[in-house]
Amino acid sequence: MRAKKITKAIIPAAGLGTRFLPATKASPKEMLPLFDKPLIQYVIEEAAAAGIRQVIVITGRGKRAIEDHFDVSFELEEFLKQNGKKEELKSLRKISDLAEFCYIRQKEPRGLGHAILCARHLIDDDPFAVLLADEIIDHPVPALQQMVDVYHERQAPVIGVQHVAKTDVKQYGIIDGKPLSDSLYRIYDLVEKPAPNEAPSDMAVVGRYILTSEIFHYLENTKPGKNNEIQLTDALQEFAHAKEMYGLILSGRRFDAGDKLGFLKATVEMGLKSPEVSKEFRAFLKGHSL
Ligand code: G1P
Repeated sequence: MRAKKITKAIIPAAGLGTRFLPATKASPKEMLPLFDKPLIQYVIEEAAAAGIRQVIVITGRGKRAIEDHFDVSFELEEFLKQNGKKEELKSLRKISDLAEFCYIRQKEPRGLGHAILCARHLIDDDPFAVLLADEIIDHPVPALQQMVDVYHERQAPVIGVQHVAKTDVKQYGIIDGKPLSDSLYRIYDLVEKPAPNEAPSDMAVVGRYILTSEIFHYLENTKPGKNNEIQLTDALQEFAHAKEMYGLILSGRRFDAGDKLGFLKATVEMGLKSPEVSKEFRAFLKGHSL
């Protein structure tokens, strides 16, 4: 039997963004502009390029700017039309046409696993993707597309992973698996943010997941774990103990844009790649005696 197409994605965006205070005091972390686009637009473009048609954003208090960004801005469009600004108009239209958007409020900050559970009624029995907006993965083949291909081949959940430094494992979900090829692993276990000496490997979950609706059953029964939050990793661990699950080492340069240094690195990278400013920006950077 052919696996169902993946057309739905959940973007959890209810977090408080405490790593980026004070910038995120009154504006959502997901709306921080990385060069000329907010962070969340990068992951939604990645999702759309991989075939996602319906995007479910999990939001919370103070996150309205996200809804406005992906909505049609009638006044702005009229203004651009009347002033002959065709290119700007086209780029605005592209944003609201990326997908069909739904918003669900997570009323209490009870963790990533709980945020996913909030979308259960919109997922129904379909397979779906989860993308975390603060992980930017830059590659000609969008990271989610790399995973969709594996999902169709294996017909089981696929988690995006990358090698990290041993000292950094405590910031991630870490998998334990058996290699099936250079980049594909069968996952047998996962641990959320282990101490370096307790990590089963150096392969970290990097904010891209393809899941099946069976995960909701595990999430429902997941008790609060690390930081007293309902962790997606804990539900995945139970799943992996019982069923097939795969880890794919994603090709691409990854930036943890939810962190100040990671965000700066991503900004420099996007600036260097932009045809609009790269030449002058490169010259500016060269002028800095580093
Ligand atoms: C979350 C997940 C973690 C994953 C990470 C990737 O943690 O819980 O397993 O490795 O995202 O960015 P967070 O960074 O939200 O604390």
